[in-house]
Amino acid sequence: MDKEKLASEIAKITWFHTFDFGNGIVTSGYDDSYSRVGMLHLPEDLSGKTVLDIGSWDGFFAFEAERRGASRVLATDSFCWSGDGWGTKDGFNLARKVLNSKVEDLEIDVLELSPEKVGEFDLVLCLGVLYHMRNPLLALERISSVTKHQLILDTHVDCLMTNRPMIAFYPGSELNNDPTNWCGPNRAAVEAMLKTVGFHRVEMVHQQVKFNFIYRLTRAIKHKLINHQSFRLSFTQDRMVFHAWR
Ligand SMILES: C[S@@+](CC[C@H](N)C(=O)[O-])C[C@H]1O[C@@H](n2cnc3c(N)ncnc32)[C@H](O)[C@@H]1O
Repeated sequence: MDKEKLASEIAKITWFHTFDFGNGIVTSGYDDSYSRVGMLHLPEDLSGKTVLDIGSWDGFFAFEAERRGASRVLATDSFCWSGDGWGTKDGFNLARKVLNSKVEDLEIDVLELSPEKVGEFDLVLCLGVLYHMRNPLLALERISSVTKHQLILDTHVDCLMTNRPMIAFYPGSELNNDPTNWCGPNRAAVEAMLKTVGFHRVEMVHQQVKFNFIYRLTRAIKHKLINHQSFRLSFTQDRMVFHAWR
């Protein structure tokens, strides 16, 4: 596809992920995808590994796994790909074509995942999906059932003021004004849920805002005074990445 044709195809799509396709062609994604790669601590070499990317949307992390040598990558999604969100599957389809990728795709809800339907994978990516779940423990149970070795889980977290396992419930649009966000587990709850569904080792490998009490307090005051954001939420919410092994 020539540069002008590609630019015009890209312009027709509302992108979630940011792809740099070279020659100055970059998608205007909402997500700063390249900077997230480091935070996920994705293994550098995935040679010969099978990878499942759950809730893949435009597929950035599925294509990244393929680029790192994975022998088979399956990208799955349901909400956006079926046209229920503000995004579509068009970005995934175009990126796959441009990247000349062999990443497979399957439209399937998280709760429908099973070894019989999709198989089992060496590495499973569940990025930005858990907080969209009305039944997070059940979702993690389904995810565990298709994980042969390792899971990388990237999620919004809440209730960080306590070490007791707790999950905040968002019945409306409380989280980021988005009614598709349902839950905010704290670190202890994520770790406990992962162990409950069969992961024997769990490590938190990245926290977006470092948990230094004074730093968080100052940050929350600043957010309240400058951005008029809730002090309590700035203080108790964050984003974390977990690695878990079966
Ligand atoms: C915030 S986006 C994350 C996209 C990508 N994984 C990332 O981290 O950049 C959430 C994705 O989860 C998908 N999703 C939401 N609910 C789902 C469900 N029940 N089953 C499968 N996918 C779902 C959405 O369609 C969307 O693509």
